[in-house]
Amino acid sequence: MKITLSVIKADIGGYVGHSESHPDILAKAEECLARHKKSGLLVDYHVTKCGDDLQLIMTHQRGEENEEIHRLAWDTFVEGTKLAKTLGLYGAGQDLLSDAFSGNVKGMGPGIAEMEIEERKSEPVLIFMADKTSSGAWNMPLYKMFADPFNSIGLVIALSMHEGFSFEVHDVKDHKKITLNSPEEIYDLLIYIGAPGRYAVKAVYSRATGEIAAVSSTQRLSLIAGRYVGKDDPVCIVRSQGVFPAVGEVLEPFAFPHLVEGWMRGSHHGPFMPVSVADSIPSRFDGPPRVTCLGFQLTEGKLVGPRDMFADISFDNARQQANDVADYMRRHGPFEPHRLPLEEMEYTTMPEIAEKLAFRFEDLQE
Ligand code: F6R
Ligand code: MG
Ligand code: MG
Repeated sequence: MKITLSVIKADIGGYVGHSESHPDILAKAEECLARHKKSGLLVDYHVTKCGDDLQLIMTHQRGEENEEIHRLAWDTFVEGTKLAKTLGLYGAGQDLLSDAFSGNVKGMGPGIAEMEIEERKSEPVLIFMADKTSSGAWNMPLYKMFADPFNSIGLVIALSMHEGFSFEVHDVKDHKKITLNSPEEIYDLLIYIGAPGRYAVKAVYSRATGEIAAVSSTQRLSLIAGRYVGKDDPVCIVRSQGVFPAVGEVLEPFAFPHLVEGWMRGSHHGPFMPVSVADSIPSRFDGPPRVTCLGFQLTEGKLVGPRDMFADISFDNARQQANDVADYMRRHGPFEPHRLPLEEMEYTTMPEIAEKLAFRFEDLQE
């Protein structure tokens, strides 16, 4: 059975500040999606949040980039924004960059990850959602899941994974893409994806079967809008088991809270902390950045679940380490590498200060 899994998300208002989503907004989204399940447009859905982002997880049979599905997500965000305004939520409608829907939510602000698959007899899927970071945050975990034998032993000892995976990498600034094969091209792959501000892993495919293994949202809000409008707060869908990494191999990269861009004012490096949905409430210095993961068994399009995958004590050490790294990074205050390099900061006073002080700069006599 062919089924499409679409995860479409947007920050349409925060509560309090940028720290969480209001329960009434989730209830409103639930109401909207229930209507479309009843009408038959959706096979199934699950509404959740990650920090201040509203997440619509949907299954249907209309394929990727379908106008009706995108319209229903857009209309849900518009409805939610109206409610966010009456509640006076912070930044109501912040990710809706356009006033009118024009057929596809791509480039309009919301983040999207979609995959159309031939559902297997048993189809475990893991949906990762992030807050206070940008789309390149998935590069390191996706590399580890699908290319690093120190993370995924299946690459070494499971025949089904031994042929490796191919990575579709997007240059988010120049709007170009390239596909590179693991294991033989990993050095070429890493020169790109080790620079996650510019190159993001969009999708991963099994080389044994050609099937899609993972897909992420790569929309960079600031590049769409040409100004700071909030962090991307990306999502990523990963299929698991069989020809794909086991659930534990998919989750294992998050035992290391690697440094990602984002955090306060989208202008800092901070540790990527794996948390339960309930703990996705980034409050300390508007962070540190969070990642949640919901697991489902996809059965004839029905989302059997969710299981809250990081609500597991085995991620306690990662959370502790993330808190220790947060302390350490915070002690740098306004200095790099806690603060992002000048050209990467989402907020800056530089043009104004540079203009004001230009007349006080003197040439160096060297
Ligand atoms: C980071 C984020 C927050 C805000 C900060 C200032 O992605 O959303 O850290 O940047 O709270 O917000 P404003 O400028 O809306 O007062
Ligand atoms: Mg926000
Ligand atoms: Mg957010």
